Amino acid sequence: MTTTTEPQRTILTPQGAAYARLSGIGAYRPARVVTNHELVDAIESSDEWIQGRSGIVTRRRAAPDESVVDMAEAASRQALEHAGLRADQIGAVIVATVTHPFQTPAAAALLAYRLGATPAAAFDISVACAGFCHGVSLAHDMVRGGSAEHVLVVGVEKLSDFTDLDDRGSAFIFGDGAGAVVVSPSDVPAIGPTVWGSDGEQWDTIRQRDSWLDMRPDRPADAPEVLWPAIVMKGQAVFRWAVWKMAPVAQEALDRAGVKAEDLSAFIPHQANMRIIDSMIKALKLPAHVPVARDVADMGNTSAASVPLAMERMLREGAAPHGGLALLIGFGAGLSYAAQVVTLP
Ligand code: UT7
Repeated sequence: MTTTTEPQRTILTPQGAAYARLSGIGAYRPARVVTNHELVDAIESSDEWIQGRSGIVTRRRAAPDESVVDMAEAASRQALEHAGLRADQIGAVIVATVTHPFQTPAAAALLAYRLGATPAAAFDISVACAGFCHGVSLAHDMVRGGSAEHVLVVGVEKLSDFTDLDDRGSAFIFGDGAGAVVVSPSDVPAIGPTVWGSDGEQWDTIRQRDSWLDMRPDRPADAPEVLWPAIVMKGQAVFRWAVWKMAPVAQEALDRAGVKAEDLSAFIPHQANMRIIDSMIKALKLPAHVPVARDVADMGNTSAASVPLAMERMLREGAAPHGGLALLIGFGAGLSYAAQVVTLP
């Protein structure tokens, strides 16, 4: 009698949770407050112009020796405490940032180590101001797909390291900070479908400066040939794109979640410009009773950190209730965007 060994034709696949939810939130705001008055001389501007065009009154700046990982750690510790989890229960750490000053290694690996979350999977994502909402989407799919039980998602930026204080179009906009959430299993749906996408045709509208292409014609002959790669943008082009294209994305996130604008407990859009926020409110026909995040006035544009920072503030100040429905949307360099409805942690 001969025996044949049949090859195994199937493999085991992970079983995830039925649903996912935001189980904890934390934030870190650097101590130093930078006023418009401090910036205006270098860019021939005024407090009145900056407030009128952007709604920004102040922004925070990290200390010179304070890193992206330091800020991420502070926000993450709060988020873990709020979620009631130990760091060793985290299966993956996602850091959304464009200002960690190393191509490699990732900020996430050092963050996981410092928190005691090793050997969690740890990686950074580069989607600028849409980074946090991308991270929430990935974490949601990981929890449901079974690749991690609890996922830490951090949006963190030290934009002051990449801001040219002589550039009129960006010097007054950017700020520093960190926000973090934990995404955990849930018995009920608590994170809606993510509407996301990109438009690389407009790749050039917000980007790190090229040392040769962006050299100013008036630079001194003995200036160094390589400019610091600050992040600059074509403000008007980005503004138009945000105003015309982002409200339909936010509306689609509502529709796909089966949620009406009047049922929202909070609208938390990317904090880039108060005029963009106001135009989105109009386009969405958002009822007046829905509270809207306006953290940009105090924090400026903190890119990947802006949505979780604004969320944490609304919850802490009682402007939005824990457990209420919130519409989130991030948009920026790429150009890229992501929106989803979530139940607030
Ligand atoms: O986070 C990623 C997404 N980013 C955004 O969503 C940012 C989108 N863009 C914006 O928020 C706005 O475009 C800015 C706030 C950056 C600028 O506002 P704007 O209304 O688009 O200004 P503008 O560039 O059209 O300039 C208007 C005027 C010009 O003068 P003239 O030609 O009208 O005489 C500029 O030269 O304001 C002048 N200007 C300034 N004046 C004082 C430009 N920058 C400044 C300045 N201070 N810093």
